Amino acid sequence: MYIFAIESSCDETAAAVIEAHDNHISVLSNIVSSQISIHALYGGVVPEIASRAHCEAITKVASEAVTVAGIELKDIDAIAVTFAPGLIGSLLVGVSFAKSLASVLNVPLIPVDHIEAHVAAAYVDNPHLKPPYLALVVSGGHTSLYKVNDYITLEEIGCSRDDAAGEAFDKVGRVMGLPYPGGAAMDKLATLAFEKYDYDKRGALSFPSPAVNDNTFDYSFSGLKTAVINHIHNEKQKLKSDDLHEDSKIEIAGAFTKTVCEGIVKKLDLVLNAEKCSTLVMAGGVAANSHLRKAVSDICLKHNVDFIVPPMSLCGDNAVMTAAAGYHMFHLGIHADSSLNAFASDESSAEYLDTLKKH
Ligand code: KG4
Ligand code: ZN
Repeated sequence: MYIFAIESSCDETAAAVIEAHDNHISVLSNIVSSQISIHALYGGVVPEIASRAHCEAITKVASEAVTVAGIELKDIDAIAVTFAPGLIGSLLVGVSFAKSLASVLNVPLIPVDHIEAHVAAAYVDNPHLKPPYLALVVSGGHTSLYKVNDYITLEEIGCSRDDAAGEAFDKVGRVMGLPYPGGAAMDKLATLAFEKYDYDKRGALSFPSPAVNDNTFDYSFSGLKTAVINHIHNEKQKLKSDDLHEDSKIEIAGAFTKTVCEGIVKKLDLVLNAEKCSTLVMAGGVAANSHLRKAVSDICLKHNVDFIVPPMSLCGDNAVMTAAAGYHMFHLGIHADSSLNAFASDESSAEYLDTLKKH
């Protein structure tokens, strides 16, 4: 079957077509139009500007996805769309577009949760991946651990009590003077740092762990973020300049990245001791971080657990993951009617999805 999908929850307008059968998913197109250059001027996503940019881009992105896939509109069997959580104005653009197309083509409309979609990206290259398994979602809005009990049920067992990991990368990156969003640039600086600095040496630069010091599987990134930002401000004051030296940026990026990776791994170690599981999936934009991929792979190896992480192209926001989640929902008979709405938060969307699942 062919599934066409739309994702517009934040600052990427994305559309994709997948061909799926018997859990095998082939990506026929994956179009992402990023608004990063627009929001970079403001150092973060401006919601109204994001909605307007989605509105301008969506028709072009959608038709490109169909053209690149080499199919015709009449070949589409179902339409999946991200309906929550995210920026409400941005979500509404995607939902309205998907509803109209589903109505014109007379095909099922599948409402997909953005976090479930991030996890579903892992099904693309792994037809043998089947629930139950554990999932870690690390993105700009979430740092959460889930038991994936079946294709449509994510049970949260740990989360960040304040900032998400991606948010910390971006806010620290901004104060350091890195291009927005800071995650990818920080990754590269950290690679240089690990060649240059030994952070295990006495007196090496270090920051407080984001792993909450108790038996929960929770994180807290705001203390780490504040400590790093305070350190940067002190460095700038010493220099009497708003620009850090390149060496200093590298040293801070390494210490910060090491702390994030170790904090995340500390809770994974706990969870892999506590839960019987044979597979761990890591997903979300921050899952593209090369140091985190290595650290999580190592802890999985230690616990003899399979580690699955989507390819880099499917870690950040895209519509292939929406289509992959939609495929499994389609098989369970879950679809929305023309009254589908968008939801900014997880709580309201979970309630809505529960009513659909019960039907
Ligand atoms: O999943 P995503 O595309 O959007 C949300 O759903 O939030 O994640 C975006 C986040 C941003 O904070 C970005 O800085 C971060 O993912 N990110 C990275 C890397 N690439 C993207 N963080 C660390 N290292 C990277 N290589
Ligand atoms: Zn995302």
